[in-house]
Formats: sequence, C-alpha cells, structure tokens
Amino acid sequence: MKYMGNKGKMLPVLGEIISFHSKNASKIADPFCGSAAVSWFLAETTDKEIISGDIQSFAVARARSVVERTGALDPGSILKPWFAKARKVVDSVASHFPNHLKSIEPDLTDPALIKHVVLQSRKFCKDVLPTVFQDFKGAWPISKAYGGYYYSPAQALIFDALRQTLPSDTARRKIAIASLVEATSRAAASPGHTAQPFQPTDSSAKYIIDAWLRDPWALVRSSVTDISSRSARTKGRGVIGDFTKSISCLQAGDLVFADPPYSDVHYSRFYHVLETITRGIEFNPEGRGRYPALIDRPSSAFSKKTEALAAAKRLLENCATKRLQLVLTFPTEGASNGLKANDFVLIGKGVFSDIQIEEVSTDFSTLGGNKKHRDARQRCGESIISFLS
Ligand SMILES: C[S@@+](CC[C@H](N)C(=O)[O-])C[C@H]1O[C@@H](n2cnc3c(N)ncnc32)[C@H](O)[C@@H]1O
Repeated sequence: MKYMGNKGKMLPVLGEIISFHSKNASKIADPFCGSAAVSWFLAETTDKEIISGDIQSFAVARARSVVERTGALDPGSILKPWFAKARKVVDSVASHFPNHLKSIEPDLTDPALIKHVVLQSRKFCKDVLPTVFQDFKGAWPISKAYGGYYYSPAQALIFDALRQTLPSDTARRKIAIASLVEATSRAAASPGHTAQPFQPTDSSAKYIIDAWLRDPWALVRSSVTDISSRSARTKGRGVIGDFTKSISCLQAGDLVFADPPYSDVHYSRFYHVLETITRGIEFNPEGRGRYPALIDRPSSAFSKKTEALAAAKRLLENCATKRLQLVLTFPTEGASNGLKANDFVLIGKGVFSDIQIEEVSTDFSTLGGNKKHRDARQRCGESIISFLS
C-alpha cells in the first residue's frame, strides 16, 4: 500500500538485520506499523509472535488481517456473500433515482465539463443522498464526507455499502476491513496521499476522471485475494495506541523494530480517509481536506518539533529498561520534525551496551509533494541502527 515512510523496499536488508538480532527473541514488536509492510513480512517469514501497534486504527487493522491469522483463507468465501449483500444495499439506494445508478454515476467523458460534474456531484452527496439515507439503517461516512471530493458519488456509496455489510466471521472481517483500507487508498482522487482532494481545475481534470473511474469492487477483490493468501507462522496481535502499549507486551530479550515518524505534520492529516473507513462513523468534515475534528485525529509527539526529542528518549529508555533489542530506522540527515538518525545514536550511547549502524539509500515521501515535485519522492539516506542490550 502507498504509505508515507513505507519500508517495503528496504525489507531485504532490514529483514536480515531484524532476523539476526531477534535470534533469542520470542516476540517482535512493530509499534509504528503504518502500512503493515514490515509486520506482514516478519509474520510470514519468522516464527516469532509479532505485535503490531500504531496510534491509527487503520494501520493496526491492516496488520491484524495477517499477523493474527495462521492459515490462508479462500477469497471466494469472503467475496461472494459480502459483495452480494453490499450490492443489495447499493441497488436499494440507487432504486430511489429514476435511472438507478446512472443518476449517481457522473458523466466523465468530457474533461472540459469536470468543474460542473464535480460541483454537481458534491451537491448531490450533500443535499440529495442524505435524504435518501434516512430510509436506511447504518452509517454513510464516505458518501457524506468525501462523496464528490475524493470519490465519485457511486464509488462512495459502494464503499459505504461494503463497510456496512462486512463479514461477521472474525478472520474474514479483518481481511475485509484491511482490503477496504487499501481500496479506498487506491481509489482516492488526491495527489499522493489523502490530505486534500484534487480540485476541479483544468490541470487536475484528468486526475479526477482517472480516479473516479476506478472500480471499487475490483480494487477490493484484488486486495482480498492478496491478503487472504497470506498468514502468520505464529499467531501475533495488533494493538491500537502509543508505542509504549506494544512494547509493554514484550519480555527481556525480545526485539522492537521502531520506525517512528520523521515529519512535523501528523500522519492523521494525510490518512483520515483510511481512518474513517476503518471506524465507520459519520462526522462533520472540516476544511479543504474534509478532515474530522482535530480532537478525533490521532496526534503524535514525534510530529511536534518541541516534543520529538523527548519522544525519542522515551522510546529508547523504554526499550533499554526492559532489556529489549531495538532496531530503529530513521533518515540520516535532518527530518522535518527536527530529528536525525544521530540524535537516536547519542541518546542510545548512554543506555545500550552496543550500537551498530547501517546506511541505505532509499526513496522517501515529501507528503504529497509540492508544485516542483508532484511525484513527491526524493532519494535520501536512511540509517538502520541496532541498539543491543
Ligand atoms: C514512518 S511511519 C511507519 C511506516 C511503516 N514502517 C511502514 O513500513 O509502512 C510511522 C507510523 O507511526 C505512527 N505513530 C506516530 N506516533 C506514534 C506513537 N506515539 N505510537 C505509535 N505509533 C505512532 C504513525 O501513525 C505512522 O503510521
């Protein structure tokens, strides 16, 4: 999944370092699990119990879908009944309109009309759909907050219907939620991440059209097929909350893989759409990004310049006090939260008996980019630091 700071590409090196230092561990914690790329890899390739944590619930939902299950599942057993129920909901809502889905699905054939089409879609989701929803049970957070912005009205309705009709069996439900997170991420009409939707300008028209034409059913199907084929070798668990909560599940000799934020902007600003699909709760959207209220967005000391260094100290001291091994990755040069890899090394010198450093070159994300770098990726050095007790 596309995620700021996703360590998927670093796994060949990172995996080897983590495996080497976790020989005597029975558990490995990934307390900043994000996209879950590292948690999944460790669950699938080691015999350790993986503890995956994050302050954002969608990240833990992604991790849980694999780390908490030890056998593959048949994707058809998830998709067939789930899609049938969701289609019924979509059809019932659509039947309130004269041309059924046609009224909900905007005409995207002419880029010159994009402004008109987008504004009409927004009005439709704000004024028309909520009246129809009154005849139905359930929550419609994607349609009400993001319909006509990140998603076409039809896409938003399908995502809400899928969220309302999740499988009741626990293992299948976890795969379904994780797949919805991935599908909503892939379908979003926004540059890079989901901080703000594309605005209907001449230059953005093609991006909106491209995104609004993505098929939610196909995206969910592909993600369910991938996730259900994966499983952990040993059953682990997901933990929503601050890193200390995941670390508290470990005993002396276990290992922590820490990939804390390097940005001075909170992750929750960029990923509220994924948090919304996971929570399934309606809210009053605020600002250009259609955010939930600030109080409902997870915030991190690592993303506050004045608190980041103290958070780094807490992390290292917490691990050292519990006599845990710690493998930490962080940009070598200064990151926007004011920290650099060497700050962790300096803190670690007082509290760990040995520190080993490996430098790798990697892409990193600049949070959706700016006008010069639309692709939002730059090359930079990442340090993998092993703190050994
Ligand atoms: C650099 S990303 C991790 C990326 C992840 N390793 C991957 O491969 O996708 C940092 C993550 O830390 C989470 N986070 C921020 N502050 C946290 C805290 N105090 N405790 C736990 N998680 C936190 C963010 O929500 C974000 O998902």
